[in-house]
Amino acid sequence: MTKRIPVFAPHIGPDTLAHVSEAFDVGWLGMGAFTKEFEDRIGTYLGDASRHVVAVNTGTSALHIALLAAGVRPGDEVIVPSFNYVADHQAIRMAHAEPVMCDIRDDNLGIDVDKAEALISERTKAIIPLHFAGIPCDQAGVYRLAEKYGLRVIEDAMHAFGTEIDGRKIGSYGDICTFSFDPVKILTSIDGGCIVTSSEEEVENLRRYRFLGVDKETSLRYKNKRAWDYDVVGDGFRYHMTNIIASIGISQIKRVDEFIRTRQNVCRAYSAAFGQIEGLRIPAADFAGISPFIYSLRVLNGQREALIAHLDSLAVDVGIHFIPVHKHSHFADCRRSDMSVTDQVVQEVLTLPLHSNMQPEFVRRVVEGVCGFFKADPELARRSIELVGA
Ligand SMILES: Cc1ncc(COP(=O)(O)O)c(C=O)c1O
Repeated sequence: MTKRIPVFAPHIGPDTLAHVSEAFDVGWLGMGAFTKEFEDRIGTYLGDASRHVVAVNTGTSALHIALLAAGVRPGDEVIVPSFNYVADHQAIRMAHAEPVMCDIRDDNLGIDVDKAEALISERTKAIIPLHFAGIPCDQAGVYRLAEKYGLRVIEDAMHAFGTEIDGRKIGSYGDICTFSFDPVKILTSIDGGCIVTSSEEEVENLRRYRFLGVDKETSLRYKNKRAWDYDVVGDGFRYHMTNIIASIGISQIKRVDEFIRTRQNVCRAYSAAFGQIEGLRIPAADFAGISPFIYSLRVLNGQREALIAHLDSLAVDVGIHFIPVHKHSHFADCRRSDMSVTDQVVQEVLTLPLHSNMQPEFVRRVVEGVCGFFKADPELARRSIELVGA
């Protein structure tokens, strides 16, 4: 029987199991020394020692407390693309602020800065740009806009751990940056996330927000110890990352460059095969310096559903990122820009399977499946799958 090819597949090897086993042996299951080690390794990986990393239990909680640390308060507005996962919009509501939804650009599917500018009001406090699929948005444009209007920038880099812009990793500079390590991300800790910032004051606040507002949890817990005399100095949540979870993250970050390289190869093979098919539009990237979370291409001329059915018949799973958030009933009344690009793009996007160390046989089946549907020159498929050694 043909094995189905999933859209996502975690890469958990004996190295990860060894790290987890070591963490259990230490016997300190909650937030502790491994949490600190994971944070330190993230900082080192990003490459700027002056940045601080605060690990939390999900990317969504990273966004929530990043908004609070950035000074977003009840009644403020935060501009965010609608073409996004709903986590951002829920995090804004968790901060008792209001999401204002912006359209995207047709090329990189990141926020349209001109349309964002037109949305700015007296209440606008922050903007959350998303680097969709690991491909950078117009980051320079976002920072120019933020500077002009005095806005905070909270980058949603959940898809872009390891992506570089002009040779610098996203998160190693700029205002506040957030990452997710959820089950399907390139670097997973099963669930997890982090916030990166340069401000020591914000780090202190973030640490309190992540641990119930307690004043001195972090330094002792980083030594696998507890404080028995503590004060609660502000609001807080139970968002910390545990030692066990951090040990998984540590095992994964040690291999993340290998994961990224193998994903880049698959993306290049896909683009080589599909770039000349008229009914498709491939991502606007050659994947150099890009850490590809998903391979999302566009299926033109209303053929997407037929292609999905064809791939399904070949046991190839696909995904759709995303249903735009302004289409969800809970967010339908939010103030927003015109959504002409978003509304077009969401009818076309299709996510093909992409895994770290993906089996060449899987790549071959995906490439042949898509090329077969479009009756493309078989030579294209043959040359592309050679790139991954299938
Ligand atoms: C764009 C985006 N933002 C935020 C999140 C939330 O991250 P998490 O699942 O770790 O809470 C995700 C998760 O898929 C995401 O894709």
